[in-house]
Amino acid sequence: MASNKDNEDLTRVGPGTVMGNFMREYWMPAAKSTEVTSDGAPLRLMLLGEKLVAFRDSSGRVGVMDHQCPHRCVSLFLGRNEENGLRCVYHGWKFDVDGNCLDIPGIQVHEAAKLKIKAKAYLTAERNGVIWVYMGKRKAPPKLPMLEACMLPSSEVEVIFIQRNSNWMQNFEGEIDTSHFNFLHVGSVDVDNIPDGHALQHTVGYRHRFSVNDTELGVSYAAHTKVDDDHTYWRFAHFAMPFWSFIPQADIRYNVLARAWVPMDDEHSMLVFFYWKSNRRGGLTDPLKDGTSLVGGSLLKNDFVPNDTDWFGRWRLTGNKKNDWLIDRDIQRKKLSFTGIDGVHMQDQAMTESMGAIIDRSDEHLMESDLMVARSRRRLLKVARAFNEEGIVPPGVDDHQAYFTPRGGYCVTETSDDWAKVYKDQLKLLFHPGRGSATDA
Ligand code: FES
Ligand SMILES: [Fe+2]
Repeated sequence: MASNKDNEDLTRVGPGTVMGNFMREYWMPAAKSTEVTSDGAPLRLMLLGEKLVAFRDSSGRVGVMDHQCPHRCVSLFLGRNEENGLRCVYHGWKFDVDGNCLDIPGIQVHEAAKLKIKAKAYLTAERNGVIWVYMGKRKAPPKLPMLEACMLPSSEVEVIFIQRNSNWMQNFEGEIDTSHFNFLHVGSVDVDNIPDGHALQHTVGYRHRFSVNDTELGVSYAAHTKVDDDHTYWRFAHFAMPFWSFIPQADIRYNVLARAWVPMDDEHSMLVFFYWKSNRRGGLTDPLKDGTSLVGGSLLKNDFVPNDTDWFGRWRLTGNKKNDWLIDRDIQRKKLSFTGIDGVHMQDQAMTESMGAIIDRSDEHLMESDLMVARSRRRLLKVARAFNEEGIVPPGVDDHQAYFTPRGGYCVTETSDDWAKVYKDQLKLLFHPGRGSATDA
């Protein structure tokens, strides 16, 4: 349950809002590098409720700026991307990637007047095929977060963008609520059909306990169950400010991933999912003993409709609210999957979009399994308000290296009452596929 004020502060991301101001302090993954080509068409980019255009100039630099021309507000999306700048097609004013006005043709204009004109441009960076944008006020921006999954050699990183038509926090809460896994994703799996030794033998059909802790970057949590007299199954997940999650999709030792729920506006978000693509160990992609899929469908089945030039025309899946996320009642009835909706991502998408674009959190009834959701809300509100009201630098902004550490995943260990210690001990056993090759930005 959350008050209306809390709900507004959590969900609204436009300029001047509590969450919007807070989010602008961080670098955000915004587009694939391949979405803009040198001297190619500009891209409509919606970020934190701002309508922007992205383009790559003749030298390969990426510009991201307000889509309205500073002259008389025509959309620069229609502009000509030529000779190291974007030229408005109305009266020909031209801007470079930093927003400087390079040319005001057709009239006699004093050089000083030209210098005063500036398009509203944001700082950009590229790493491993992704364009990042910084929309904050600092002249010298913070460093890019050193997420392990983003720092791997490019041949080892897979990056997926998927748009979702619901508020970023709603989507994010679905991410850190791993208690739904036993129902939504594997509710029809027979535990005897799970391969011997697979940690998920200890989750399907079990009732877990839940523990949460605040961390330097956000919140961590564990779901845990005693599987016999001496052993406990653990499932760890983390939230790192402002919108990053590290979810348990595999054995913790190999589960190198990071997921961002980047707000496009209040009612649309973009998932940016980085993962180590060679990880095939102890994960959800493992087949069951009878050869069928563990998750009752295809794990990574993501069928996209072609991108178009609409503000919300990028990286949409074929399943959506209008076609009931392609639910198949026959499959649901026969228990071939719990939902009849194909693919883990589409199952999650159906849940959060079916709530409506922005839920009224005063209608909820939270339980122990929602501890992580409740704690993350509180922590987020606290640090976002502290930034807005007192100027306190948000967690992680000036500590980009801290983002390397969080690792979600599952494991079975000797039983202990101290879950934080168990997690710490697991960190010593991790496999880092990019070790030695990761470099700072
Ligand atoms: S509106 Fe863009 S140059 Fe006039
Ligand atoms: Fe899920």
